Amino acid sequence: MKICCFGSLNIDYVYHVRHFVRAGETIASTDRSIICGGKGLNQSIALARSGADVYHAGNVSATDGMMLLNALQSNGVHVEQVCQQNAVNGHAIIQVDEKGENSILLYGGTNQNITRKQIDEVMCAFDEGDYIVLQNEVNLLPEIVRAAHEKKLKVILNPSPVDGIRENVPLEMVDYLFVNADEACTLSDGKTPEESCIALKQRFPQMTLVCTLGAKGAVVYDGTFTRADGRRTHVVDTTGAGDTFLGYYVGLMAEGKSKEDCLRGAIAAATLCVGKLGASVSIPFRVQVEELLNA
Ligand code: RIB
Repeated sequence: MKICCFGSLNIDYVYHVRHFVRAGETIASTDRSIICGGKGLNQSIALARSGADVYHAGNVSATDGMMLLNALQSNGVHVEQVCQQNAVNGHAIIQVDEKGENSILLYGGTNQNITRKQIDEVMCAFDEGDYIVLQNEVNLLPEIVRAAHEKKLKVILNPSPVDGIRENVPLEMVDYLFVNADEACTLSDGKTPEESCIALKQRFPQMTLVCTLGAKGAVVYDGTFTRADGRRTHVVDTTGAGDTFLGYYVGLMAEGKSKEDCLRGAIAAATLCVGKLGASVSIPFRVQVEELLNA
C-alpha cells in the first residue's frame, strides 16, 4: 500500500527570540537557522522515517526549492509528483521563544499554485485503498479531497491552519482527522477536545478523530475513546511536533498496528522532536523511537 502526501514544502526561516515580537515593537533575534519545513514535507519525512512507502506531491521553486527536493529524496520519499516552478518557494518566518513555543507567518508561494491538471495526474498514480495525507497549506484542498474520495483513497486530513476548513472542505469525505485541541474546538464549537470529538463524529460518522493534547498526550475517538499520556521532556522547540505525531501514527497504522500502539509510537516520536530545534531536522528515526519505547 502506498501513502501519498499531497502538501506544502516550505523554507523555514527560524529566528530565536526572547519573546514574540509585539505590535509596534522591534526586537533583535539571538540566532537564525534556515531549515526545510512545511507541514507537507515534515509529514512526508516523518512517514518515511517511521518506515512507510511515501510519495510526496506538491510544488517547489526551480531556483530556491532544491534543498526541499533533496531533503525528501535523502529520506527515501518518492518525488516524481513534485513539480518545479519558476516562482518564489513557499516559506515560513518562525519565531521560537525561550520556552520553545513558536509563532509562524506563512507565505504560500509555490504551494498556492496547485492546478486541477496536477490533481488528476497525482490521482492516476494511486489505487483504491492507498492513503492520502493532506494539510491546509496548499490551494485547491477541497478539490483534492473530492478527487481522492472518488478514487477511494483513505483520506487523512490535518486541517491546519484551520481557516476556511469548516466552510470549504467536504469533511464528510475525510476518513481520519488529525487535530490539536484548539482545532477540534474551532471545527465543532465544542468547549473541550472530548466534547469536540463527539460532536464531529456525530456530524461526520465515517470519521475517526485523532486529537493531540500537548503535554497531556493524545486521544483517538472512533465511537469510543482510546487515550495515551504524554511524556515528560525538556522542550527546545515545538515546531513540527504535530507533523511528527501524524507521520508516525499513520506510518504505524499502515503497518497494521493497534490504536494503542499507534498512539504510543506517535507520542514517543513527537517527544523526541520537541527536544531539538527545527521541524524536519528534529524528526526522529524509527530506531530512536523504538529505543525510547523500550527504555
Ligand atoms: O508544522 C510546522 C510547519 O508549519 C513549519 O515547518 C512551517 O513551514 C509551517 O508550515
